[in-house]
Amino acid sequence: MTPPENSRVIVTPGIERLAMKGAELFQRTAVASVASTGFFTVAVSGGSTPRPIYRLLAEDPYRSGIPWQVTHLFWADERLVPVTDPDSNFGSAERDFLKQLTIPTGNIHPMSSRKPPAAAADDYEHELRRHFSRIASAEPVFDLIVLGVGEDGHTASIFPGDHSAVETTRWVTAVKGGTPNVERLTLTLPVLNQARCIVFLVSGSKKAPVVRSLLTDASAQLPPQRIAPQRGEIIWLLDEEAAALLPQDLPGCIRKN
Ligand code: 6PG
Repeated sequence: MTPPENSRVIVTPGIERLAMKGAELFQRTAVASVASTGFFTVAVSGGSTPRPIYRLLAEDPYRSGIPWQVTHLFWADERLVPVTDPDSNFGSAERDFLKQLTIPTGNIHPMSSRKPPAAAADDYEHELRRHFSRIASAEPVFDLIVLGVGEDGHTASIFPGDHSAVETTRWVTAVKGGTPNVERLTLTLPVLNQARCIVFLVSGSKKAPVVRSLLTDASAQLPPQRIAPQRGEIIWLLDEEAAALLPQDLPGCIRKN
């Protein structure tokens, strides 16, 4: 198996370079999206890997170079814990960059942890429909979705073998699992597969086996392998440790200094 044609694999020497590449991609995509549609709609994930990127976004040149006034920020998934809990994805994002930026409150669309999971999933789907209809799209077409990957091959809160991995109609579902093992909300494959750009951020040697499976073994049938945006591209942004078990001649793979 080789990665699909619309995907690129970029290997960076370490987490610092990975974060810089991630922040550059965020800014580049924001500027291009605003130039073409007037808005930038992005969904971000939780976990530890994207946090250095989020911290960079709060600093120049990204802070002043990103059109925050027309940026709409959604979440790819959320752990249903209070916002003050260190495990809250929205809470981490607030601390890492949102509090440092001047971004209209109405542009920030967190997943709510205040309602029962099924009702919160319905609310978020409604919120997505409202946003995309405002920008004249019947489909949830994100300009950028930032995802991570777990050692077990989950992405967002779509877990291998779970009902969230076979959802075909709903845009948001409630699931329980992962670490921490709590109730969660997640965007589904029907949403992820509409995106204009998906970036997977993966770092560290513990992820090397799953990265090898995802990029070289179609029989693994893991959730990230079911992401194939019809009109978009996939970028795998890895550090050397996560890429350590990939073949040196992997097609579409660029190694950066
Ligand atoms: C969440 C996630 C999840 C995460 C991966 C990778 O649990 O909120 O969005 O999908 O991205 O588990 O997490 P790390 O970056 O911490 O390895």
